[in-house]
Amino acid sequence: MRILVVGSGGREHALAWKLAQSPLATKIFVAPGNAGTALEDKIENISISSDDIKGLIDFALNEQIKLTIIGPEDPLVNGIVDQFEENDLLCLGPSSLAAQLEGSKAFMKEILVSAGVPTADYQVFSDPELALEHLNNVETPIVIKADGLAAGKGVVVAHDKKTAEDAINSIMKNKKVGDAGKSIVIEEFLTGQEASFIVLTDGKNVVPFATSQDHKQRDEGDKGPNTGGMGAYSPTPLVTKEMHKEVMENIIAPTLSELKNRGIEYKGFLYAGLMIDDNEIKVLEYNCRFGDPETQPILMRMNSDFADLCLKACEYKLEDFEIDWDERSSIGVVMASGGYPESYVKGLEINGIPEEEDNLKVFHCGTIQDKGLLKSNGGRVLCVTALGKDLSEAIDEAYKATNKINWDGCFFRADIGQRDISSNKS
Ligand code: AMP
Ligand code: GLY
Repeated sequence: MRILVVGSGGREHALAWKLAQSPLATKIFVAPGNAGTALEDKIENISISSDDIKGLIDFALNEQIKLTIIGPEDPLVNGIVDQFEENDLLCLGPSSLAAQLEGSKAFMKEILVSAGVPTADYQVFSDPELALEHLNNVETPIVIKADGLAAGKGVVVAHDKKTAEDAINSIMKNKKVGDAGKSIVIEEFLTGQEASFIVLTDGKNVVPFATSQDHKQRDEGDKGPNTGGMGAYSPTPLVTKEMHKEVMENIIAPTLSELKNRGIEYKGFLYAGLMIDDNEIKVLEYNCRFGDPETQPILMRMNSDFADLCLKACEYKLEDFEIDWDERSSIGVVMASGGYPESYVKGLEINGIPEEEDNLKVFHCGTIQDKGLLKSNGGRVLCVTALGKDLSEAIDEAYKATNKINWDGCFFRADIGQRDISSNKS
């Protein structure tokens, strides 16, 4: 089977790498991919951008692609799956309507409330003056969120009224995130620890992936500005067996049936961002895709045939599919360009990537080959991912490799996974 993966980040490198291990996969194309996907056996990059839906469809038709898997949210929200299916092409991901779970925070909150799923109290505003006035009625901290897709730049956790006011002005009046900020959600600040709960559904059956947690803030101790994710690990002791059951039954299932009641079928990866405080679980957000960097450590632990799983999801055959997981722990440490998540320089030569081993894989996020040299080409550049018999050993293995890699200005957090080491010790 010939497979097309759409996207160019660490998530897509991991998706393509895992698909390539399947005996069912004869060839994997990645559009547009990165320097890491270019180096893999059975994988070839094609220079079509992930938002060129027509170009991708033409490629899939001409190249007899049996299955297409979409990595990022933008093409999903823009209807890539609908358009592939109109051309009788199998495409794994939600329709544009279903992808509104990520594409509009107001829609997502409405679904959660109608489905009876616990989430932060909120209000939606499309008039900035009313939003500013509303600040008089709330306590801080308070969270201001642009309604639409904002590439991780649309959420401000405001610890005082001035910051909340500035956020409303910059999102709604100064259009910091463009049309995504035409309306906003103002919501109650939740405390606790975040977990990423990711499942695959064919619309009827739901198959959960291994549990994971990511570190969203840039700086050690989970401080500093939010990023796409500075590192992740799997499994996480935060999500107990009982909580797992509760999330499947009281969060994922009612969300999918609420969508179904509205005539919307959800097929593809679904990522619930959870806030867990003692035993109380609330949904912070839904993403209509796999997580980045969660995909890297999760797929590192998968023993099952990933191509078979994805194909079965598209063919509505996930009934009774159970994923076989490696018992070991896995972590991924993101190495980023100096300046990320704000502005950063690209095109810097990367040195010191160690040889791959069974328990070590350096996934590429933003890289490019230039005249035989490996260079940085994004904010998040590499995700050094390792397996260990437990989380401590996985951490040691990942950092042993991370410490060998360098380029001008690169940085990484030295404490990925440590919150669970500390909580296990206490
Ligand atoms: P979102 O895109 O909605 O997940 O928001 C991005 C990040 O902002 C989350 O992963 C949290 O770290 C933080 N965040 C969002 N909503 C809240 C909330 N209601 N309370 C506390 N933190 C939040
Ligand atoms: N790691 C967070 C995300 O994928 O949105």
